[in-house]
Amino acid sequence: MKRTLGVCYYPEHWPEDQWATDAAHMVDAGLSWVRIGEFAWQRMEAVPGTLTWDWLDRAIDVLGSAGLTVILGTPTATPPRWMLDKHPDMLAVDADGRPRKFGSRRHYDFSHAGYREECRRIARLMGERYGKHSHVAAWQIDNEYDCHDTTLSYSDAARRGFQDWLAQKYQSTDALNRAWGNVFWSMDYDSFDQIDLPNLTVTEPNPAHVLAFRRYSSDQVVAFNKVQADELRRHTSAPLIHNYMGRITTFDHWKVGADLDIASWDSYPIGFLSDRLEGSAKEKAKFLRQGHPDMQAFHHDLYRAVGKGRLWVMEQQPGPVNWAPYNPAPLPGMARLWAWEAFAHGAETVCYFRWRQAPFAQEQNHAGLLRPDSAPAPALGECRQVADEIANLPDVGTAQAQAALVFDYESAWGWDTQPQGADFEAFRLAFAAYRALRRAGLNIDILPPDCADLSAYKLVLAPGLMTISAPLRGALAAFKGTALIGPRSDTKTDELAIPNPLGPDLPDTDVSVVLTESIPPNAKIKLQGGGTFRHWFEHLEGNAPVHLSTKAGQPAIMGGDNLRYLAGWPDDATFDAIIGGLCDALDLPSYTLPDGLRIRETATHRFVFNYAPDAQVWNGTIVPAAGVHWEAL
Ligand code: GAL
Repeated sequence: MKRTLGVCYYPEHWPEDQWATDAAHMVDAGLSWVRIGEFAWQRMEAVPGTLTWDWLDRAIDVLGSAGLTVILGTPTATPPRWMLDKHPDMLAVDADGRPRKFGSRRHYDFSHAGYREECRRIARLMGERYGKHSHVAAWQIDNEYDCHDTTLSYSDAARRGFQDWLAQKYQSTDALNRAWGNVFWSMDYDSFDQIDLPNLTVTEPNPAHVLAFRRYSSDQVVAFNKVQADELRRHTSAPLIHNYMGRITTFDHWKVGADLDIASWDSYPIGFLSDRLEGSAKEKAKFLRQGHPDMQAFHHDLYRAVGKGRLWVMEQQPGPVNWAPYNPAPLPGMARLWAWEAFAHGAETVCYFRWRQAPFAQEQNHAGLLRPDSAPAPALGECRQVADEIANLPDVGTAQAQAALVFDYESAWGWDTQPQGADFEAFRLAFAAYRALRRAGLNIDILPPDCADLSAYKLVLAPGLMTISAPLRGALAAFKGTALIGPRSDTKTDELAIPNPLGPDLPDTDVSVVLTESIPPNAKIKLQGGGTFRHWFEHLEGNAPVHLSTKAGQPAIMGGDNLRYLAGWPDDATFDAIIGGLCDALDLPSYTLPDGLRIRETATHRFVFNYAPDAQVWNGTIVPAAGVHWEAL
């Protein structure tokens, strides 16, 4: 399969007589896909029930006749103003009880049944009209679930929905009281309609209550998406896609992904570095114009799995964005590097966001491939270069990884609910493990928590899993490589309580966590032979062999050849040493990569990406800053 490029376009933002010129210019730039429609509900239905498709028909025709293929978005992230008059209680409510009002986007509550029906209706109407259109070859449902923190809502609709959900799950309040431990502080309920949402309590609500609400809220995103997916499937056989985000854990992407054909995501490397990642001031300065060297790869690998092997980048940063605290421009070459990195990780298509910078409204300072005056912005030339390179390079395919990382959203909710240490967060821990694997130059697959077969891998990491599912426990029991489990794995029940006997319950491995400590940033646990644990440390007991100890003589890694438990959160250098040692023992080739250099192997090539701000040497080849190098394997 040939890799392809695309762009996000808003015909409704531009005079109609400009569309044909834009379309021809897009084709010239080497683009083949164009995504449209996802915010245009008002233009489709300015008056409730009166649909205006003629402009969209013409836009699709103009783009399609120029040789582009359309990804059509359902516009449900931007309900028109009249929708609120029809459904006055459809707005989400924040944790302080304030409505999140009209005037931007995503002003809806996932629990609101009336709004969900409106979404079903518009998806049906669009499906009927464009489902078999020869120029429409893919669909995007809604836009960026949870963008602007919109998964959780404390509305009346959410409260009623939550009560029903609880009644179905627990059947009786007695069962719920027991499961949650409501005897503590006399929190018992006698009927489901007494159970409020877990906000505005005097002090922290029962963690089991919060976790239930997080599960409920995630289920609403899944159900909301499925309504549109089911509706569209009646009318089209084109692939259905959602565009996920970076570092969003508020809903279970594995479950949304199960109802769709392709997982895509929106990659804003420089915005993420500034807005969404920990890191020293020095590191942030170093990668200011490139983004973190592992952030994109993590999400490519995650969403390739969420998409059951099918991955796209629906929005690729082309220049400065508008939404991070600081918005520097990319180093020349990065708009090319990011695209090639996505392809090397299996992406079929990379779409830049957006075609022309909008001179009005919220995102007027967000770059596009064209400047607001239609002159080329710097990324346009890089886009053309990637298009030429794709044409000349045989398809890069994907390769089976030998290292894997298990990633679970429910655990993220559990640890959000009771972090126990101010800097304990599931993504941060998983990302630390991922970064160590990647600094070792390994290809990595990210696996769901119910993964039942690990036989393709030699090395598996499972950090921060609140519980280990039955299928995963079975796969671990049969595993022939080495799995490093922990820290903080399988030490809670499904209800976020402490199991008895104490966890983890690892097949044939006698190790238990008997006490947990969180460690502030100015402290560390020193390890024998050098290295430290940061943030988190668990005291282990059991008869399993000890492979590493703390300076004070407590176990740091315990277990057999196949299953080992890691008692703490290693600093980066310690993680490197642990992974390096495991790779050597497993005969898994690994590297010590120069800082900022990253590699990814496909079935046929090794790709080398230089995220450093200066040239780096790979195997005798000089790779310039923001450079991409590939070599046949
Ligand atoms: C994404 C969103 C786009 C646009 C973009 C700006 O989050 O899907 O519509 O807002 O960010 O970077």
